[in-house]
Amino acid sequence: MCGIVGYVGRRQAVEVAIEGLGRLEYRGYDSSGIALIGADRALTVEKRAGKLVNLRSVLAARPAPPATAGIGHTRWATHGAPTDRNAHPHTDCEERIAVIHNGIIENFAELRAELENDGHKLASETDTEVVAHLLERFAGDGLAEAMRRVCRRLEGAFTLLAVSVDEPDVVVGARRNSPLVVGRGEGENFLGSDVAAFIAYTREAVELGQDQVVELRTSGITVTDFHGAPAETRDYHVDWDASAAEKGGHDYFMLKEIAEQPRAVADTLLGRVGADGQLMLDEMRLSDQELRDVNKIIVVACGTSYHAGLIAKYAIEHWAGVPCEVELASEFRYRDPILTRDTLIIVITQSGETMDTLMAVRHAREQRSRVLAVCNVNGSTIPRESDAVLYTHAGPEIAVASTKAFLTQLVACYLVALYLAQVRGTKFGDEISQIIDWLGRMPAKVEEVLGTVEPVRALARSLAAERCVLFLGRHVGFPVALEGALKLKELAYMHAEGFAAGELKHGPIALIDEGLPVVVIVPSPAGQRVIHDKIVSNIQEIRARGAKTIVIAEEGDDAVVPYADTLIRVPAVPTLLQPLIATVPLQVFACELAAAKGHDVDQPRNLAKSVTVE
Ligand code: F6R
Repeated sequence: MCGIVGYVGRRQAVEVAIEGLGRLEYRGYDSSGIALIGADRALTVEKRAGKLVNLRSVLAARPAPPATAGIGHTRWATHGAPTDRNAHPHTDCEERIAVIHNGIIENFAELRAELENDGHKLASETDTEVVAHLLERFAGDGLAEAMRRVCRRLEGAFTLLAVSVDEPDVVVGARRNSPLVVGRGEGENFLGSDVAAFIAYTREAVELGQDQVVELRTSGITVTDFHGAPAETRDYHVDWDASAAEKGGHDYFMLKEIAEQPRAVADTLLGRVGADGQLMLDEMRLSDQELRDVNKIIVVACGTSYHAGLIAKYAIEHWAGVPCEVELASEFRYRDPILTRDTLIIVITQSGETMDTLMAVRHAREQRSRVLAVCNVNGSTIPRESDAVLYTHAGPEIAVASTKAFLTQLVACYLVALYLAQVRGTKFGDEISQIIDWLGRMPAKVEEVLGTVEPVRALARSLAAERCVLFLGRHVGFPVALEGALKLKELAYMHAEGFAAGELKHGPIALIDEGLPVVVIVPSPAGQRVIHDKIVSNIQEIRARGAKTIVIAEEGDDAVVPYADTLIRVPAVPTLLQPLIATVPLQVFACELAAAKGHDVDQPRNLAKSVTVE
């Protein structure tokens, strides 16, 4: 949700900013802009509505002057339409200071009125512009001190970067509840919403804390709190390089990320299973006694991560025998959940920055519950604010639609459930080893599915003119159905709904009409036979009412054959692990259908990768 990049050093800042924005565009693509301070202390601002390509065209026609300090922004609009005028950077009255922002300044209306009363002329409808004018007011104190004074006046969530003609070799940044990381180079330094912004130049990063201001110079970085006291930071090395954030020969990032899933699943398992078959999850940072004392688990997440949570519930209750609830972060935060010291909250988040989830973490910790984060992005806010973190090792996920992060979240949740079972003794050791053994085989199974998705592609293309697709599942197939529908909605902009197949007869069956495509995820007949048989009956019921049935079923399941208009085969695996393979054809289906409709697969309309507003 808005991408931010800042640079000081020996390179041309415009090149660093545009390169960084290219890698951050997945965060928002309503407009983009840059501000540069040239050696002659002149401020250059270029900005354009629409995707980064528009800004690139402007710069190709009118190259930016040489400058070694600058900032760049790609926007996901909140306040003010996505126009040239509302695009960032915003400047003060004298056009000496330029500012970019991610987040929402909640008290902007009051600040704007105050500034206008003082004679400031504001040109845009954004909340951001007030910051440029407030900085102007305090400019005599130096940019970093001015930023500290401004931050003390702001309410809401913000990452801010500013440059000023008075300090041509400085970029100042600030953060509250919104992401900002520093990239440390040799004689040059970087700022970014995430490390992708500067990964082409350095893999040495510095994690900033809450309510901090950073002053970036070629000679180094200085970090303080909003009152000027020196602040602690944490240095870390980024364990992936620029090539991981490129398409690598694929048409879309999404296709690349789907293809990377076997590796991502394997990496998430790596180092967590000992030679004796015992799980080693020291990262949970809870003693065995504390794990035994846990009497309730609440999984909290949004979107695709929430679907991973729904599947986790089946695994946690089945293997560990602990009652488990799953809740949308945006709902959890604003009710009164019953939380105690013995409630374990598991938050699942790819980005580690989702504002709804972050607010849920804070809410839970205020009630003294312990929070375990399952997260993909090292150095992000949610792991830092949680009691413990289990990192998924999916690598950078650039496509807005989540794929490999989802599969690795499932693996992490399975590990948590099995670890709880191991410590609490709810399953025999050999049962746990068997399932761990199966987990180890899952990368090869996912690879097998990837090798057979060509017919799914053809099917997707044949359905490009449809207006609606339904998805049905039972047991863990139900969250898979929800995930299949979400992927189709966000990528193909089609009406898509996921239902628990047992709920059909309570209303949704009225939607079934002649020719309506319905995807059904069938669980293994070798698991709970009764669930399998019931869903086979559901397929017959919808087919009798004219549905075009697209059935995902395991190899050798012959019971579905007479009722499937299209049959997608997946390898046989234990029921609880089936989501790891049944989701893959649905990802490919949505991606291909969106491409067939001519949509931008990696950057679907109205969306942004990391949702840092509530
Ligand atoms: C859908 C998707 C979103 C995210 C959701 C949570 O493909 O990507 O639904 O899953 O916004 O994001 P994280 O996991 O970063 O908290």
